[in-house]
Amino acid sequence: MKKVTFSIFAGLALFTFASCGGDKTNETATDTNTEFVDDSSATSAEAAAPVTLEISAGDDMRYDKDVLEAKPGQKVTLILHHTGKMTKDQMGHNFVLLKEGTDVNAFGQAAAADKENDHIPAAFVDQIIAHTDLIGGGETAQIEFTAPTTPGNYPFVCSFPGHFGSMKGTFIVE
Ligand code: CU
Repeated sequence: MKKVTFSIFAGLALFTFASCGGDKTNETATDTNTEFVDDSSATSAEAAAPVTLEISAGDDMRYDKDVLEAKPGQKVTLILHHTGKMTKDQMGHNFVLLKEGTDVNAFGQAAAADKENDHIPAAFVDQIIAHTDLIGGGETAQIEFTAPTTPGNYPFVCSFPGHFGSMKGTFIVE
């Protein structure tokens, strides 16, 4: 009888050991899920799937869109196409997204004067949410950034000298 009891215990121990192995596999799967959840919450509780936005401008000194839209905290890939033929020095374009309430005229004037920094004025760096490089005809610039988490209307402009008056629009977060 004793021998039989021992065998049952041994069997239980083996069973328990096997169960532990099984749990480990589950733990690994759970970890993967947890990481995924963490990624979402790091962006924002309401973050939507990433979005790609494209905007073009040519030698006519105009963007093809004056409104771009994103959700709060959404990951945005923004692609700027310069569809013209003129050079960066003649007809450079960029995309500069500014914080709400930025004095766009003051920004544009400071930007025009700051050729050294490709017209991204140092004095306004803390007003800039994101910006592309300055590009010339036939070139493309791409950036990734996170949309503001606060819904609102954020101005965007091209900061090349003389362009912000006509090359401007609204980045709507809602
Ligand atoms: Cu421009």
